[in-house]
Amino acid sequence: MKTVRHAKVTFAVFPDHEALSRSAARIVVDLIRMADAPLICLASGSTPRRTYDLIPPLCRGDGVTTDRVRFVKLDEWLDLPTRVPGTCEAQLTEQLIDPLGVDAGRYLSFASDPVDPVAECARVATALEAQGPIDLAILGLGRNGHLGFNEPAKALIPNCHVTTLSAVSQDHPMVRDTNAVPTRGITLGIADILHARRVLLLASGAEKREQVVRMVSGTVDPRFPASFLQLHPAVTCVCDEDAAALLPGAS
Ligand code: GLP
Repeated sequence: MKTVRHAKVTFAVFPDHEALSRSAARIVVDLIRMADAPLICLASGSTPRRTYDLIPPLCRGDGVTTDRVRFVKLDEWLDLPTRVPGTCEAQLTEQLIDPLGVDAGRYLSFASDPVDPVAECARVATALEAQGPIDLAILGLGRNGHLGFNEPAKALIPNCHVTTLSAVSQDHPMVRDTNAVPTRGITLGIADILHARRVLLLASGAEKREQVVRMVSGTVDPRFPASFLQLHPAVTCVCDEDAAALLPGAS
């Protein structure tokens, strides 16, 4: 593993996706072991999938109790029935919430098919206000620089909100094959992310190469939401060599 720092972001560069996943899972399990009732924010998608697979067996193997850990879902596609394949809910429930035995009171989650999405945002915002701050925000890096469903825009919205999905998001493998591809999403806002005590950003593969560099280019640009992570004092980007290939000093 090689460590480099750019614009206050620490990059931990691993040979491949498996190695970065093992490191990320270790960070999460250590937090669950050490902290009292930590609140962990969960992205979805392909990058964290292996990390999430590793967490329940690591907890069991290390004898780490999970009866106080709390989770909050980062984002969700709107207008899909709850838990159908492709929803963030299906992924997180299957990989973490059920295997770790997390009860409903310890899992804060947007519904994917709320009657009133704006009211759903208000519900999650109020609960997060009461339960926060987030101790660790696990994030993925969108191909267009989005964080959660904070999409590139002229201005970003601080807290939970409904968002119109970019073409890039609508083409994401999670929903590409669904009958009716969602056009709207629901997400924690950029301030919710920046208020987390610690951010763990996962980036893997050559398709994230340019994004990793642009994220730490020195300017904070709402047209590239990941650049806002430069404002946070404790961001670790756990990535593989493919994703870090254009990052100065990483190879
Ligand atoms: C989707 C998810 C995000 C995720 C992003 C990157 O937009 N809603 O939570 O961070 O994709 O996904 P991947 O890791 O599959 O590239």
